[in-house]
Amino acid sequence: MLDKKKQADYLAIIMNELDRIDTIVNEFMSLAKPQAVQYVKEDLKSILDSTINIIHPQALMHNVQIITNYPEENCKLSCNSHQLKQVFLNFLKNAIESMAEGGNIYIDLQMKEPDKVLVSIADEGTGIESDRLRYLGTPFYTTKDKGIGLGLTVSNKIIQEHNGTMKIVSEKGKGTTVIVELDCLET
Ligand SMILES: Nc1ncnc2c1ncn2[C@@H]1O[C@H](COP(=O)(O)OP(=O)(O)OP(=O)(O)O)[C@@H](O)[C@H]1O
Ligand SMILES: [Mg+2]
Repeated sequence: MLDKKKQADYLAIIMNELDRIDTIVNEFMSLAKPQAVQYVKEDLKSILDSTINIIHPQALMHNVQIITNYPEENCKLSCNSHQLKQVFLNFLKNAIESMAEGGNIYIDLQMKEPDKVLVSIADEGTGIESDRLRYLGTPFYTTKDKGIGLGLTVSNKIIQEHNGTMKIVSEKGKGTTVIVELDCLET
């Protein structure tokens, strides 16, 4: 008979794995199933700031500083803020995970004439080899032990549904920058 300690250990592993399955299924379903998503006028700076607040404890724990650079102007989007927060969380999580020793993440927001906005999220992490760049966004592509490989796939889909584009620039050993372009509304 298994002793009590072993049983508890196994139970903990099972519960953990069930959680992971739940996450995978939910993320995968969100890709497959069209959802009725509401688009509302929201300020991009507030969306970014609340995303940073959510990830702040994790950043602190990993010795990561998040430095923002926003323009003065308002930046209103027609969007679903929950989905966009999910997108920026995915990018920030990847950035933190790429910097084992900690470092800086720079979030830059730039208005582009006449009605576009560019958000770039740059890290000082491991970077990505050029021949691996083409796999990014492929469902379940991951290089992480505990990764699922859906973060970029889900993010890309949400950005496309917002009529935006996403681009990843990276240099091995230097860091990675994700650049998102979105439509903004006249203020
Ligand atoms: N900022 C980054 N720096 C270095 N590598 C990155 C970065 N962002 C993504 N990658 C690479 O792209 C892969 C896919 O990223 P993605 O976010 O889709 O999945 P994941 O982070 O591995 O798992 P999860 O589903 O938990 O997000 C990562 O495993 C990693 O190899
Ligand atoms: Mg990820």
